[in-house]
Amino acid sequence: MAPMFVPGPVDVVPEVAQAQAKPMLPHRSPEFEALFHSCEQRARRLFRTQHRVFLLAATGTAFQEACVRNLVTGKILVVVNGAFGKRWAEVARTNGKDTDVLEIPWGKAARPEQVADMLRRNRYDVLAVVHNETSTGVENPLKDIAAAAREVQPDIFICVDSVSGLGGTPLEMDAWGLDVVFTSSQKCLALPPGLALAAVTDRALERAKEVPHRGWYLDFVRLEKHRLKDSTPATAAISLIYALDVQLDRIFTEGLENRWARHAHMAQMVQTWAREHGFELFAEEGYRSRTVTTIVNTRAWDIPALNAFLLERGMRIANGYGPLKNKTFRIAHMGETQPQHLEALFEALEAFAQRQAG
Ligand SMILES: Cc1ncc(COP(=O)(O)O)c(C=O)c1O
Repeated sequence: MAPMFVPGPVDVVPEVAQAQAKPMLPHRSPEFEALFHSCEQRARRLFRTQHRVFLLAATGTAFQEACVRNLVTGKILVVVNGAFGKRWAEVARTNGKDTDVLEIPWGKAARPEQVADMLRRNRYDVLAVVHNETSTGVENPLKDIAAAAREVQPDIFICVDSVSGLGGTPLEMDAWGLDVVFTSSQKCLALPPGLALAAVTDRALERAKEVPHRGWYLDFVRLEKHRLKDSTPATAAISLIYALDVQLDRIFTEGLENRWARHAHMAQMVQTWAREHGFELFAEEGYRSRTVTTIVNTRAWDIPALNAFLLERGMRIANGYGPLKNKTFRIAHMGETQPQHLEALFEALEAFAQRQAG
């Protein structure tokens, strides 16, 4: 497998990709319902939750919207320290919600006290936090943010975008008191894109029942009604559920904690490589992502040329996101990426550096 070191979509192992080729089943058939049930029950372990998990033909962004539509009648506070927090605030505003943002400079993590300060000044229905900002390579201290938020507003709904975190970095939904946590299939779960997974507490579901105009496709109440019948309101992403079934087994065979440790180890490898090769790290120390590392392009490498060079060797990295393009580049180490893949990447990067020098 020639790894793509981009933060999603990531490589899918052949066994999982091939699982999608199984014959179709009607999504309202006992065979499919049994499979859906099994996947839903096992997926809870990814989130460390006793609550339900919705498996929807969608991507993670859909659940940014679902949180807004199902839980907000008053105000929402969105923590913004990168592109995906920014998107969530936009999603809230474009749904007509009264939206405040806690703006943190890109590359820095949000601090629990900053969130608590905002909550002391205003009452919010929802606190929206991106767990792992893929655009900057910052992991927000989610556990401490959630605890601080609860202390100020015990009944606030804490919604978490863990699109590039879940499965790759520790997250304990129930123990940390989170209300909604969602992810996309194409990141740390190493599945093809097109499936969104969202864990939703009973409390959030009860709240949704009181919120008017939740819409149709992303309505938690409707999703729950169908989940109880082991299916989805509209056609399920059957092939992706086949793939999820196989991948969940693989993930739990490796062990979730082992997977987290593998990601943390690979993050260390990339950080060390960057420092040893004259680069700086974009994310502040102590809050660096375990799934994607953003490197400041201190040596002014031509990133498109670098990627062309890597592509000849079957590899690919990611340029900086949005305003960080060419000023930074990103090396993702999520999903099925292994330390030996990084070793091969480092060799290629060094060959590129030599060619530049020569
Ligand atoms: C943190 C984060 N949130 C949301 C998204 C959007 O995910 P999707 O494209 O699956 O909707 C991404 C995609 O990179 C992301 O990294």
